[in-house]
Amino acid sequence: MKPSPFPRPLLAALQDRTEPVTVWGAGFIGLSAACALAQAGFPCTVLDIDEHRVGEINAGVVPLPGFEDVIPLADARSGGRLRAATPDDTAAVAARAHLVCVNTDRDGRPVTGPLTEVLSAIGRARTGDETLIALESTISLRWLDELVPAALDTDPANETTLHLAAAPRRDWMLSPQMNLRTLPRVLGTARPESLPVARELYDAISDVVHPAPDWRHAGLTKPVENLYRYVDLVLTNQLAQAYPGLDVPEVLRLAGTKWNVPTFHPSIGIGGYCIPLSPHFATDGTARDIPLPLVDSAMAWDTDHPARVAESILAITDGPIGILGLSYAANARIVEGSPTRRLTEHLLARGADVRLHDPYFTPEEITALTGARPLKWPDDLGGLATLIAATPHDLYADLPDRLTALDNPPTVVDNLGGYGTALRDTAVRYAEWGTPAARPSAAPRP
Ligand SMILES: NC(=O)c1ccc[n+]([C@@H]2O[C@H](COP(=O)([O-])OP(=O)(O)OC[C@H]3O[C@@H](n4cnc5c(N)ncnc54)[C@H](O)[C@@H]3O)[C@@H](O)[C@H]2O)c1
Repeated sequence: MKPSPFPRPLLAALQDRTEPVTVWGAGFIGLSAACALAQAGFPCTVLDIDEHRVGEINAGVVPLPGFEDVIPLADARSGGRLRAATPDDTAAVAARAHLVCVNTDRDGRPVTGPLTEVLSAIGRARTGDETLIALESTISLRWLDELVPAALDTDPANETTLHLAAAPRRDWMLSPQMNLRTLPRVLGTARPESLPVARELYDAISDVVHPAPDWRHAGLTKPVENLYRYVDLVLTNQLAQAYPGLDVPEVLRLAGTKWNVPTFHPSIGIGGYCIPLSPHFATDGTARDIPLPLVDSAMAWDTDHPARVAESILAITDGPIGILGLSYAANARIVEGSPTRRLTEHLLARGADVRLHDPYFTPEEITALTGARPLKWPDDLGGLATLIAATPHDLYADLPDRLTALDNPPTVVDNLGGYGTALRDTAVRYAEWGTPAARPSAAPRP
């Protein structure tokens, strides 16, 4: 190992904010962490393999369209403590304090490549001095036990100069109020001695830090909290399937009046890249021979959900199908885990004529991503037999007015039920998803 270029203990240098911190990955998670660290006084370099992203950050441009107001890049850069670089910046790679925020999923599945690459690079650059590596990326327990030691070529529990931490993120990136400062941060380290070092960083950027017994407990927290939501949402969709003759959303609204029951709504699919991935992360690391049968069965059922939804839609359709919303979340451009994308795939495979609109994607992108023809909003509404209101983007707020003005409006299948109040007593045929109107063929005869 090379001689140490660091004259002071890591904790002391973190305490007086002279220690440079390297953040790996300039996505939403890495860039927001880097900005928070720079604002807290740490000299910070954010590394990304995407040169375009690096260039934009150094030019003061938030490289994530739609999140310009959520990521305080201008403020963070104003103190001169934040810069971006690619991973060939040897000084940043050889830093002693690292936050790892690279993607650990791709195309709806966990991936280990970026994490392995980053840890191997840090491992190769280590000088034998203290090193703090905090994993903010979502990880499985097996990765902590096997991948991390292998990539760093060390035994984390016994290397006294290595401070390994798990500090999973739980931001809801569409809500500026729910961010890394305001959301309680769970933090655990591989060795107890490392906790004060890791806390020096996290106490500076998060209002509340919950120390975990160790990094395994901290790491598992993230998949588990999302797993609860996943299982609840699968159950919600199963209830809608199991009671086709009942207004299941109404049952769920009534159930939600109980003090400890949230109100759920059936949907055409569970979207995004946190909740649907949680069962993969949560089941990868359970003790040998001890499965999570409830989770396994939920995943198997959920895999077939888009095909079931497609069948229900086709049963009430005799012409072109329009879909509003490709992004799984309103007012955002997020195609990862898009239920619309999966549904469209099944509808097209069954020969349906599907047209799709989303204000956050160009017509060319719509076709490239889904194979569907672009739908021209609002001009094409009148030519549809069925309209699936998948994502309630603000642009569609006047959808009820536009539909009621048509001579021959399409049947509306409302994914989340938000247009019910405006459409239920009009001439528009309205089917809230999860009610008998959306699945007439499946409903038992009275
Ligand atoms: N986005 C969220 O709201 C959110 C919330 C909680 C947790 N997370 C987790 O945080 C992690 C990051 O999420 P994100 O949304 O920021 O991901 P992202 O895909 O938007 O960004 C990841 C970035 O890492 C970069 N990268 C990949 N390999 C790299 C390497 N070898 N070196 C340097 N950079 C590399 C990519 O180019 C990309 O810019 C994931 O594990 C995710 O599950 C995300």
